Amino acid sequence: MYCTKRISNDLVWVGGNDRRLAMFEGAYQVPRGVSYNAYLLTDTETVLFDTVDKAVEKVFFENLEHELAGRKLDYVVVHHMEPDHSATLAELLRRYPDVRVVCNAKILGMIAQFTHLELGERAKVVKEGDTLSAGSHEFKFLMAPMIHWPEVMMSYDLTTKTLFSADAFGTFGALNGAIFADEADIDRDWLDEYRRYYTNIVGKYGAQVQAFFRKVKDTPIEMICPLHGFVWRKDLGYVLEKYNLWSTYTPEVRGVLIAYASVYGNTENAAEILASRLRERGVKADMYDVSVTPGDEVLSQCFRWSHLVFAATTYNNGIFIRMEELLHDLVNHALQNRTLAFVENGSWAPASGKLMRELMGTLKGMTVLDETLSLRSSLREDQLSQIDAMAEALAASVAGQG
Ligand code: FEO
Repeated sequence: MYCTKRISNDLVWVGGNDRRLAMFEGAYQVPRGVSYNAYLLTDTETVLFDTVDKAVEKVFFENLEHELAGRKLDYVVVHHMEPDHSATLAELLRRYPDVRVVCNAKILGMIAQFTHLELGERAKVVKEGDTLSAGSHEFKFLMAPMIHWPEVMMSYDLTTKTLFSADAFGTFGALNGAIFADEADIDRDWLDEYRRYYTNIVGKYGAQVQAFFRKVKDTPIEMICPLHGFVWRKDLGYVLEKYNLWSTYTPEVRGVLIAYASVYGNTENAAEILASRLRERGVKADMYDVSVTPGDEVLSQCFRWSHLVFAATTYNNGIFIRMEELLHDLVNHALQNRTLAFVENGSWAPASGKLMRELMGTLKGMTVLDETLSLRSSLREDQLSQIDAMAEALAASVAGQG
């Protein structure tokens, strides 16, 4: 049975929610599910904005048929060819043989790659600034390369000032009956999921997000319709400001995140004492055991905090595997502009500190504190002063004095 959500008098959400997916893209846990958004405009022409993942195919086609109410589908605009949005495109083309596909040249190439279909005259290829009239609505197409794939484009409704933003401004999480962000408490209940989604999916491409912001700086935007998560119709400044922070690698919190890998608890013990010493100095601190908390969550938090301490044991002459994975992920996501400190452990040949420094030293704008701590199996009483020195240096830096 169809389950649609009305957005305005002639725009309706026709997507679906998946709460059974274990790993989004095979990489990210989605314990709260995920929504795949598609939108149908019923103007003089009917325009579908994107299709959906295979998982919600049945309800999507029921939604579409219901909302078309016997009308033919004139256009489908494809903003992004990742299969969580395009896996049902071929079936759509089969069911609606008259529909024309609005896309850019890169998307057209990817349609051929993914579906093996040659669209020929069915394709309406657009480029930056081209427009499409649906009747009372006119759409302008804005290319958004590498947010987060190279073919991505967005559509701007000149009539209602609505931006169809592809993956941008979306989040993990099923919609649970709501459709608008103002129906939820985003700051309390959803911000962590927005951040986890942005940092893992788009995080590497901050420069491209900033380029898009520059492109639309004089364009009034009153509503944002992303491909995942809620539609923004109020307080757009909230999500725009978060995207500005994240895409400029600006921390949200001045304080210290300690990410640690500890096989038998001794590295954890040193991390606990450091966190305690920081709190005694009035410094906000948080701790993550990278063997317990999924790496995508820790990575997301590394985008949030200003100061990062990585504490890891040495393993096979290298960095303990979970920490090594996290640091590689941070490097791959091109995190910038953080202050770092390192704690290593090794019962006979501690090496993880040097290796962690080398890895993180490849990133832009990193300040590495001189204070380090090298454990031989466990913390000795006479090393407490080194933890105090590290806490002092971090506290001074957090306060902006170092
Ligand atoms: Fe939601 Fe990049 O696909």
